[in-house]
Amino acid sequence: MGNEVENRRVGYDVSVIRPMMREGDVVLRGEGMEALRLRGIRRGLRALHTLELMAVTIYRFQITAERSELNRQLIAAMCNEMVHYQDFQVKLLEYGFRPSVWRWAYWLVGFVFGYGSRLLGRERILRTAIWVEEKAVRHYAELLDLVGWDDATRVVVEKDQADEGGHVSRWRGLLAAGQG
Ligand SMILES: [Fe+2]
Ligand SMILES: [Fe+2]
Repeated sequence: MGNEVENRRVGYDVSVIRPMMREGDVVLRGEGMEALRLRGIRRGLRALHTLELMAVTIYRFQITAERSELNRQLIAAMCNEMVHYQDFQVKLLEYGFRPSVWRWAYWLVGFVFGYGSRLLGRERILRTAIWVEEKAVRHYAELLDLVGWDDATRVVVEKDQADEGGHVSRWRGLLAAGQG
């Protein structure tokens, strides 16, 4: 365990959960790109967009009203996942692609994982989150290798992957501390 986390790109500040974005950062993309490359980018963005919806929903339903450090960190992680979701929705539309119409199914899976783990308590919340985030780091790594991202989109994918690695580290820390 832990190898996946080491796989993540370094040099991104994972304490920044909502990076600055200016109006001019929205750019229409894809002009003049080969069809094959565009297909890869579309598949990658759709996969990430739907998975981020799942991530937002897991954290959303893991959070309780209890005034705890765990809940504080879960809210921060949820906010970070909402930014990721936004990142990929924007990129999809910049390319003229549509989000997957099946993403509600990922909302449902997120609800089951999130609410289910919350019913089973703190340790299950953390273990579920670690499991999902490690899968995410691997998935990001695959897409970073396979897809011919444009430079700006690659930076977003790399930053978001680093964030997922940061989530794994935080949940591991809370698990080790045995309190939250
Ligand atoms: Fe994410
Ligand atoms: Fe995450």
